[in-house]
Amino acid sequence: MKTKIFIFGACLMLLACGNKSSNPQPTSQANPPPAAIDDASIIKSQYPPLAFDKVASLKSLADFPIGMEVAAGDEERSIFKKTDQQPVLQWHFNSLVAGVIMKMRHLHPEENRFTFDQADELVSYAEQNNMLMHGHTLIWHWDSEIPDFMKTYSGDWKTMLDQHVYEIVSHYKGRVKSWDVVNEAIEETSPTTSDYRPSIFYKALGKTYIENAFITARQADPNAELYYNDYNLEYNHSKLAFTLSMVDDFIKRKIPIDGIGFQMHTQLDYPSVVDIKAAFSKAAARNLKVKITELDIAVNFTNAPSLNASTALAQKNRYKEIVKAYLEAVPPAQRGGITFWGLVDGETWMRSFYNRLEWPLVFNDDYSVKPAYYGVAEALSGK
Ligand code: G3I
Repeated sequence: MKTKIFIFGACLMLLACGNKSSNPQPTSQANPPPAAIDDASIIKSQYPPLAFDKVASLKSLADFPIGMEVAAGDEERSIFKKTDQQPVLQWHFNSLVAGVIMKMRHLHPEENRFTFDQADELVSYAEQNNMLMHGHTLIWHWDSEIPDFMKTYSGDWKTMLDQHVYEIVSHYKGRVKSWDVVNEAIEETSPTTSDYRPSIFYKALGKTYIENAFITARQADPNAELYYNDYNLEYNHSKLAFTLSMVDDFIKRKIPIDGIGFQMHTQLDYPSVVDIKAAFSKAAARNLKVKITELDIAVNFTNAPSLNASTALAQKNRYKEIVKAYLEAVPPAQRGGITFWGLVDGETWMRSFYNRLEWPLVFNDDYSVKPAYYGVAEALSGK
C-alpha cells in the first residue's frame, strides 16, 4: 500500500514540476500540496468489499488450520438455519468451533444424561466439508454454562468430572481434532499477580481438577490435541507467567498437554504487537502447539455509529500485524492455527456483551470482505 501511495505521490510531484518549468505560476499555485488520497478511496481501490468468493480463500493461504466460530443446533444464528453462511465457511475455513453448543451444560445437562444431537450435527457437517473440529470447552467457570446439577453437587467431584470429560471426549473420539480441555482457570488477582480462579471446580478439588481433566481427556482419545485456553495471555505478564509455570509443571510431571490457546480478544491499539509476539514466543518455547483460538479486534471505544474508513484501514493493519506476529513467533510445526470468533460483525458477541456497536471481524454482514480480510490475507501470503 505504502509503495502505491508513494508512486502516486511521486507522479503528482513530477506533474507539478513539469507545470512549473513550462508554465511558471505564482509559488502558491506552482507547488500545490499533493492531492490527499482519502481512506475511503484507498479502500475502494485497494481493499474493496468484494464478495467472499471473489477473493483468495483464507485457508488456501495457510498451511495450518484457519478456523471459524459458529452457532449451530437451535441457536438463532445457527448455520443450519442461516444456511447462506455455509458457502462462506466452506470457501474460507477448514476448522470449526461451536461458540456455545459444545459447552458443559449443553452436552451434559444432568448428572447421568448427555445430549449430543446438536453437536453431532455440527461435527458431521465439518466432516462432510473436510473441516477439523475444535471442541470448546470441557471445563469452564462461566456461570450460565455450568450445568445446574453441578451448581449444587455434593457427590464425588473427581469421579463426576472425570465422567463428564470421558463421556464427551470418547463420544467424539477421532472426530474432534482438538479440545479446549480447561478454559480460563487462571485469573488476574491484581495488576501484577495471578492465581487459580476460585471456580466451583477449584473449590471442590483445588487445582488438581485441571490436570485430572487433561489426564482423562487423553485416556478418552489418545490422538486428540489437548489445549489449555485463556484470555489476556498476550499482554498480562503475570497471567502468562502463572499459566506457563502450570504448563511447565504439567510437562515435568508428564501430565498430557499439547497446546496453549490464546483467545486474543484484542483491541485496535492494545496490546502492543511487541507484547503479543513476546507472549507467543514464550509459549512456543515450551515446544507445545500455540493456537489463536478466538481472534477478534474491537474498534469502537468512542461509540461511533458506523465503521469509518480510517478505522477500517487501521483494523486491516492490526489484523496483519497480529497474524505476522504469530507467523514470526510460532514455528510451523507448532502452529495450531488461527480461529476467528465470529463470521460477520452483526453477530459478534461483543455487541450484546458490551452493549455497544462493534465491528471486530473480517466479513461484512452481506459476507463481502472488509479491509480486515486483506490484512489477514497479506500476512498469510508473506506480504
Ligand atoms: O440462544 C439464546 C436465544 O434463544 C436467546 O433469545 C438469547 C437471549 O439472551 O440468548 C441466546 O443464547 C445466548 C448464546 O450466546 C447464543 O448466542 C446466551 O444468552 C449467551 O450467554 C451466549 O453467549 C456466549 C458466551 O460465550 C457464553 O457461552 C457467546 O455467544 C460466546 O461468543 C461466548 O464465547 C466466549 C468463549 O466461550 C470464551 N472466551 C470468551 C468468549 C466471548 O465471551
